[in-house]
Amino acid sequence: MSPRSCSLLLCVAIATGSLAGCRGQTSEDAPVLLERNMYDQERYNPESYSQAFPDHRTMRAPVEGTIARDHYEDDPEIATGLLANKSAYVMSIPQAVVQRQGGMDKVLARGQERFGIFCAPCHGATGDGKGMVVCKRDKATDPCESRGFPPLPSYDDPRLRQMPDGQLFATITHGVRTMPAYGPQIPTTDRWSIVAYVRALELTQMAQAAPPPPPQVKNPEPEPAK
Ligand code: HEC
Repeated sequence: MSPRSCSLLLCVAIATGSLAGCRGQTSEDAPVLLERNMYDQERYNPESYSQAFPDHRTMRAPVEGTIARDHYEDDPEIATGLLANKSAYVMSIPQAVVQRQGGMDKVLARGQERFGIFCAPCHGATGDGKGMVVCKRDKATDPCESRGFPPLPSYDDPRLRQMPDGQLFATITHGVRTMPAYGPQIPTTDRWSIVAYVRALELTQMAQAAPPPPPQVKNPEPEPAK
């Protein structure tokens, strides 16, 4: 190596070293900004004073009559899954929810998609309670090796089958015992769509796995004499 290229290498090494030396050090000085762009912009802080409006409020109230998307405060049954007088859960999905989404086909398609995202990881794609959070296995046909997660009920459970739709909705909203609440993450309409899909699962997947018991006749008619 010639002495010239050697000194060039040395210069590069010193330059890199001195730049790298600045990393991780704090400074009281204003940062060096080659292009300031929107670094200093005209803006209001929340709750601050404004000269632009007669009432001098920076934060403006929504235009009168504004309705937030997916707000159902006007309809307590849709918002909570409870009857308006709060005496019981609604038995079936409120019609207005289905209408607003454009029919049961759309509701079910949306429910299937959302169920796959929010519920299937724990409850399994068929609702048998053996999702990948619960079971460690390569294929769905392999036996379920527990990961130590609390056991989940199958949606096939007669108690869950008989549960009113509103209670299913409230379960998603608030969670239950060891199940977390999904109200904060899943909007109201989507929660109802999931309820519809869980019902569809119970009717299809679960019906094949174990048919519901035949209806019990309380006082059977005596056999007609032959
Ligand atoms: C993090 C895992 C997890 C997720 C995700 C999850 N669940 Fe659960 N779920 C549970 C557990 C655990 C239980 C059992 C709770 C218990 O009995 O302690 C349960 C129970 C239930 C029950 C039975 C409630 C009862 O009264 O016994 C229903 C219905 C249910 N989940 C529906 C859903 C739906 C619908 C979703 C998707 C929005 C969902 N869950 C998402 C873990 C989960």
